[in-house]
Amino acid sequence: MNQWALITGASQGIGCALARLFAAEGWNVILVARDAARLGVVAEELRQKSGKALSVMVLPQDLTVPGAGQLIFAAVQRERIVVNVLVNNAGFGFQGAFVEQDWQQELDLVQVNIVALMELTRLFLPGMRERGAGRILNVASTAAFLPGPYMALYYASKAFVYSFSNAVGRELAGSGVTVTTLCPGLTATQFHARAGQNRVGGFLQKMMGADRVAEIAYRALMAGRPRVTSGLLNHLVILIAKILPTWLILRISGRFIAPPKR
Ligand SMILES: NC(=O)c1ccc[n+]([C@@H]2O[C@H](COP(=O)([O-])OP(=O)(O)OC[C@H]3O[C@@H](n4cnc5c(N)ncnc54)[C@H](OP(=O)(O)O)[C@@H]3O)[C@@H](O)[C@H]2O)c1
Repeated sequence: MNQWALITGASQGIGCALARLFAAEGWNVILVARDAARLGVVAEELRQKSGKALSVMVLPQDLTVPGAGQLIFAAVQRERIVVNVLVNNAGFGFQGAFVEQDWQQELDLVQVNIVALMELTRLFLPGMRERGAGRILNVASTAAFLPGPYMALYYASKAFVYSFSNAVGRELAGSGVTVTTLCPGLTATQFHARAGQNRVGGFLQKMMGADRVAEIAYRALMAGRPRVTSGLLNHLVILIAKILPTWLILRISGRFIAPPKR
């Protein structure tokens, strides 16, 4: 198979699990994240495991840099690679009251979770549409369905991803290009430790693993499904978020997310 998948946030977690899955299915992969050394390790593992003629391109890039999407697109063009699948997975969050956080970190979140995803989608879509084939996987969250006090920006960014991806997917109906929005719930990755969510750590054992989330996402993507949620419990969370009044949702989510009182 001479097909390429570009995956952002491929150095660990869900993105890394997706990269492993794509490689196991015979796809060539382009791995994007900041940690070049870690990407190198993942690339080497994929090459060794595949045992087939598999091409792996490592593209270290910080997505907080304005225009990062353009840099990635240009690097791929230089190699004359046609990207058949784009996976916008990279994302991060942090805990704390909006007004007390570092402004630059807040801008960085918007840049990574929203702007880079939007920019890469905008850059790779025209080629896919021209060829009448292509798949895009945008990673949102169950957080897309409710406001999240003390992670206000993160929750809002995922609401953007959900709305944007579903709408663009609809615009592309019949074009041969599909957009799938993945809504994972709590997943056992480094995300929570990195976000400073120490309380979530206790649930880690009970959370779905990144490999399972990647499998669910991959299947939905290949079937061209517009949306996919990982696990029954997360379907339930979304359903409850849609039914309950906003004031009650805010109380519950605020209590769950709020940093422990010192
Ligand atoms: N884990 C959960 O419970 C959960 C639930 C719902 C949704 N999600 C979403 O799932 C996606 C993957 O998260 P995860 O759980 O796999 O988290 P993770 O283990 O922390 O992985 C995040 C990935 O994003 C990359 N990344 C972060 N900031 C970046 C930047 N500035 N530039 C380039 N790459 C960057 C990281 O690579 P580097 O650090 O090497 O740059 C890493 O590869 C995110 O969009 C997250 O919001 C996660």
